[in-house]
Amino acid sequence: MEENIFDRFMSQKTLFKNKEILRHDHRPSHLPHRNDEVERMSYNLWEALKGHIPSNMTVYGVTGAGKTAVTNYICHHLKVKGETIGRKVDSIMVNCRQIDTQYRVLSHLGNMLLEPHESEEIPFTGWPTDRVFKELVRRMDARGGVFIIVLDEIDHLVRKAGDDLLYNLTSLNGSLNTARACVIGISNDLKFTDFLDPRVRSRLGQLDILFRPYDAEQLQDILRQRAERALQENVLGPGVIELCAALAAQEHGDARCALDLLRISTEKAEFTGENVVNQSHVRAAQSQIEADQMNPVLATLPTQQKLVLAALLLNERNGLRNVATGQVYDIYRQACQHIRQSPLTQRRISGLISNLDMLGLITARTVSKGRYGRSKEINSCIPANVNPVEIMVAAEEELGVVFASNYQHQSSL
Ligand SMILES: Nc1ncnc2c1ncn2[C@@H]1O[C@H](COP(=O)(O)OP(=O)(O)OP(=O)(O)O)[C@@H](O)[C@H]1O
Ligand SMILES: [Mg+2]
Repeated sequence: MEENIFDRFMSQKTLFKNKEILRHDHRPSHLPHRNDEVERMSYNLWEALKGHIPSNMTVYGVTGAGKTAVTNYICHHLKVKGETIGRKVDSIMVNCRQIDTQYRVLSHLGNMLLEPHESEEIPFTGWPTDRVFKELVRRMDARGGVFIIVLDEIDHLVRKAGDDLLYNLTSLNGSLNTARACVIGISNDLKFTDFLDPRVRSRLGQLDILFRPYDAEQLQDILRQRAERALQENVLGPGVIELCAALAAQEHGDARCALDLLRISTEKAEFTGENVVNQSHVRAAQSQIEADQMNPVLATLPTQQKLVLAALLLNERNGLRNVATGQVYDIYRQACQHIRQSPLTQRRISGLISNLDMLGLITARTVSKGRYGRSKEINSCIPANVNPVEIMVAAEEELGVVFASNYQHQSSL
């Protein structure tokens, strides 16, 4: 019989009981360390079970702080309770990163409310926005009850399309006859309300809920609870949970990052046929995550940014550290000649250096040079397991010449 490439996996022992439980979209039935947030949000949404309008809420917090998970969890309980006591409460969650225009959000909401006997879907495009809005209001009134509209990752939509949608949705109750609506906006940008019209800001922010980042101990509890159901008994070596939690807490208390570390470390141990996950697997998982995050950033840098980074790397290849802007500029200019591009001014390059710093690819520290004024000390900070030259050249072949050419290096000040 022909050998199948999967045969060797079929006989391999798996370290997972149920890997799905470590996935981001798994909905845990218990969310440790979010009792206060659950309590404040559910106390407000209790109004819906009485047939009243809950306050609109803005939910803030860093990425991976559990905002989406907690909101889903509460909406699920709300729906179940509504059904048991015979109150109509519907919640609709829209991810505004995926559905990112006012028209698409309104049509999506409207289509979610389509009754089985109704067949007219609101089209993807084509209707005037006020017609879509009127149709949404009509469908909400036809169904009746209280609607909780959750706009997840709302900052994306506001940045892209402004706050008209929020204005319209937060004034829905003025247009509705029998139904009621409440809006929950979720954002991981704490400053996103700065972009809002003051009227929208005050309507949406009737109740602000801040999700603080998890600390290492809280992340350990979250990981233990998920690991218990996701992994086989006794597969975690000493200190593995603690290390995953500590690394994710350093990052910014991101539970998603902690879960990824645990899943990838276990996959690494499983792949090499080991029975126990140890701390070296966690370190390897962390390097892989870092590389996976950095590769697309490097590959998609605009050409001029790539050239500036290349100029810094070429200085470093020549043994220099704490490189000054002038030295980067000098090599950048020569690199531009090699690939026949006109160089930008040194001023523009300073701006591009700041961008690379913001992206976490370099560090640029301003230092005082006494009577010579101030200068920057620039160093690359790309993890050792990432090869920036290879990635940039793979993305833009012409850059191969930049790295293969000879340069005249200035002496350092
Ligand atoms: N307290 C918790 N207990 C168990 N799992 C949690 C907890 N908080 C977060 N998680 C898990 O961590 C992951 C990230 O959480 P979630 O998606 O809710 O973050 P978020 O705050 O919405 O982040 P983002 O701003 O990036 O959307 C999910 O898999 C979620 O199930
Ligand atoms: Mg989220």
